[in-house]
Amino acid sequence: MSEPTPTGTDFYAHARETSLNSQTESILRPHSFDEFVGQAKTIERLKIMSGAARKRGEALNHVLLSGPPGLGKTSLSFILGSEMGTNVRVTSGPVIEKASDLAGMLTNLQGGDILFIDEIHRLPKTVEEYLYSAMEDYRIDIMIDQGPNARSVRLNIPKFTLVGATTRSGLLTAPLRSRFTLQSRLDYYSAENLLSIVKRSCDLLQISVETDGGQEIANRSRGTPRIANNLVYFVRDYAEEKGDGIITKEIANAALELLEIDQRGLDEMDKRILSTIAEIYKGGPVGLNTIGVAVGEEGDTLEEVHEPFLIQNGFLQRTPQGRIITEKGYAAIGLPPTDLAQQKRLI
Ligand SMILES: Nc1ncnc2c1ncn2[C@@H]1O[C@H](COP(=O)(O)OP(=O)(O)OP(=O)(O)O)[C@@H](O)[C@H]1O
Ligand SMILES: [Mg+2]
Repeated sequence: MSEPTPTGTDFYAHARETSLNSQTESILRPHSFDEFVGQAKTIERLKIMSGAARKRGEALNHVLLSGPPGLGKTSLSFILGSEMGTNVRVTSGPVIEKASDLAGMLTNLQGGDILFIDEIHRLPKTVEEYLYSAMEDYRIDIMIDQGPNARSVRLNIPKFTLVGATTRSGLLTAPLRSRFTLQSRLDYYSAENLLSIVKRSCDLLQISVETDGGQEIANRSRGTPRIANNLVYFVRDYAEEKGDGIITKEIANAALELLEIDQRGLDEMDKRILSTIAEIYKGGPVGLNTIGVAVGEEGDTLEEVHEPFLIQNGFLQRTPQGRIITEKGYAAIGLPPTDLAQQKRLI
């Protein structure tokens, strides 16, 4: 197995985890349903809910958005805030350590406000239980003091909207999940929608881009707007340094080659996963945690970030015995599908 190239790996890690600095990210963030490209079903559902709630003068019902990183969950929660004309308070599951943290946040909300909890699957279980009554009855009973002085205090909370975001909806407990009126999953974007996003970002950043050049970026963005935007930045720099500042097909191609980004949009980790299965485990089946150890990544991260893209695009298959690489997967890493016959016997 070849060593991963730091350029490619680092680039994508950056795209996923830290993204762009917040100022640039806010320029590119869509601010209304009209500016939000793709995800037609989710958008239609949210438009209906927010339109009806606004007409009734009520708070929006609770919404759970799930899907891989960088597909627009945070953006949508801000759009909901502006549609409803309310504040959006942002927090994240692991930050809320104690029930009192949650109580503090909830009691500071105004009627109709949106509380956005990112990574809601990482909310501690003890806190999650307090959220149930907050979501359902707009109250929270917390214990104060300890021992003989311990007593329960009821706090009333303004009618608020919880927008939860998660990359792992499967990890949410049934009681929490069932308290969301709408649960909607965001999917990877089509190359066509990504091209619109690339063009929009280039317009906003005043970058000249030819359609072919934009298409090249869109095709290699792993179905993810955040990655598309990050690639736009790099390709723009490349165009300025090596060309005349215009993103043509040739410039985009050369820049993406330099980043070692695959024609199919696979990143270094995707390719390492495929090579590991093909070369070390003879094509599979092999368990996700074993792959994780071999590639030096948490099994959880593989499951939430890498696997969905690889499976949806037919590079990898999930079977009861473990993961197996497909013919397309072999092609992606330039190997002949020698072990497919053996896998078929095993399944
Ligand atoms: N539908 C879209 N149209 C245009 N741009 C988009 C769209 N979705 C996302 N983006 C761009 O991608 C960036 C990342 O989106 P966002 O932060 O909303 O993703 P996320 O799902 O919250 O990601 P994470 O799970 O990593 O928090 C946004 O700043 C925005 O520029
Ligand atoms: Mg987010």
